[in-house]
Formats: sequence, C-alpha cells, structure tokens
Amino acid sequence: MGVDRKFLLCGLFFAIAGLCLGIYMAASRNHSEMPAHAHIMLVGFVFSFIYATIHRLWLPGLVGKLKSIQFILHELGALLLAVGLLLLFSGHGSEDSLAPLLGTGAICVLLAMLTMAWMVLRARPVTG
Ligand code: HEM
Ligand code: HEM
Repeated sequence: MGVDRKFLLCGLFFAIAGLCLGIYMAASRNHSEMPAHAHIMLVGFVFSFIYATIHRLWLPGLVGKLKSIQFILHELGALLLAVGLLLLFSGHGSEDSLAPLLGTGAICVLLAMLTMAWMVLRARPVTG
C-alpha cells in the first residue's frame, strides 16, 4: 500500500473518532474535551489528509525510507496527542504526569512536518 493511501486511511480513522467525540460533546452539553476534539480533527484528520495529498501530487514515486519514517512520526505523534489530551481533559491525569506523553506527541508531529518540508524541498519538481 502506498504511503498516500496509508495517510488517507489513518486520517479517516481520526475523523470518525473525532466526529464521535464532537457528537458526544454536543449531546452531553459537556464541552470539556474540546481541545482533544479539535486536535484529533486537525492534527489527526486534516494533517493526515494534507500529507496524503502532498504525496499524491508532489511526491509521486518517491523512493527511500524517509517517507515511512515521516508517516510513523506523524501518526504516532497524533495518537499520543489524542490519548494525552483525552486523559488530561477527562481528569485522568495531571499536566505533570501527562507531560511526557503530550511532549513526545508534539515533538513527533513537529519532526514529521520538518521531515515533510525536507522531502518536498529535495524532490524534483513535478512539471506539467
Ligand atoms: C459531527 C460533527 C461535529 C460536532 C458535533 C462537533 C462538535 C463540537 C463542539 C460541541 C465543540 C465545542 C464548541 C465550544 O465549546 O465552543 C467543537 C469545537 C471544535 N471543533 Fe467540532 N464538531 C464537529 C465537527 C468538526 C470538524 C469536522 C472539525 C474540523 C475538521 C471540527 C473542529 C473543531 C475545532 C477546531 C473546535 C474548537 C473551536 C474553538 O477553539 O473555539 N469539528 N466541536
Ligand atoms: C503539535 C503540537 C501542538 C500542540 C502542543 C498544541 C497545543 C495547543 C494548546 C496548548 C492549545 C490551547 C488549549 C486550551 O487553551 O485549552 C491549543 C489550541 C488549539 N490548537 Fe493546538 N497544538 C498543536 C498542534 C495544532 C495544530 C497542528 C493545529 C491545527 C492544524 C492546532 C489547532 C488548534 C486550535 C484550533 C486550538 C483551539 C482549540 C481549543 O481551544 O481547544 N493545534 N493547541
């Protein structure tokens, strides 16, 4: 399976999870998980979809391990952020106890973006 499709499938998974959480928040009139919902939708779904699109349009046929490393970094980071924020805003952990989880997630998401920027800069421009 190409990395573009892997990003697309992970993005759709985050979208389903984030929408379920959004509907739960609206129905229960308890918006305390808003930061988790926002980051699941944006980092999990929107970013994964953007990365899938970049691979499809600007990096077709890219070879090497870097694209797999970038995929794992982003999806792992998004998952750690999602779990960390869900726990934090449901009161199942303090900011201090969840800092390693949230910090690692945030750094993974940042490293994935830097890796993507590097891959795009290094790629031969797609003409046409
Ligand atoms: C079934 C669909 C959805 C439901 C029921 C839903 C529900 C909610 C609720 C209840 C809030 C809290 C609002 C507040 O307390 O001010 C919220 C916030 C938010 N939602 Fe959704 N949402 C949905 C879809 C989406 C989608 C598709 C996205 C993005 C792709 C999204 C992104 C956000 C963001 C970024 C916030 C935070 C807004 C802010 O900072 O004021 N939501 N959503
Ligand atoms: C990767 C690391 C990220 C970290 C550490 C981070 C951290 C934060 C923090 C601390 C807040 C304030 C939450 C609050 O006041 O309760 C916030 C809010 C927000 N962030 Fe992020 N963020 C990250 C990535 C992103 C990305 C990539 C997006 C968009 C694509 C985004 C969109 C938002 C939005 C819309 C809000 C307002 C929603 C709310 O108030 O709950 N964040 N973020």
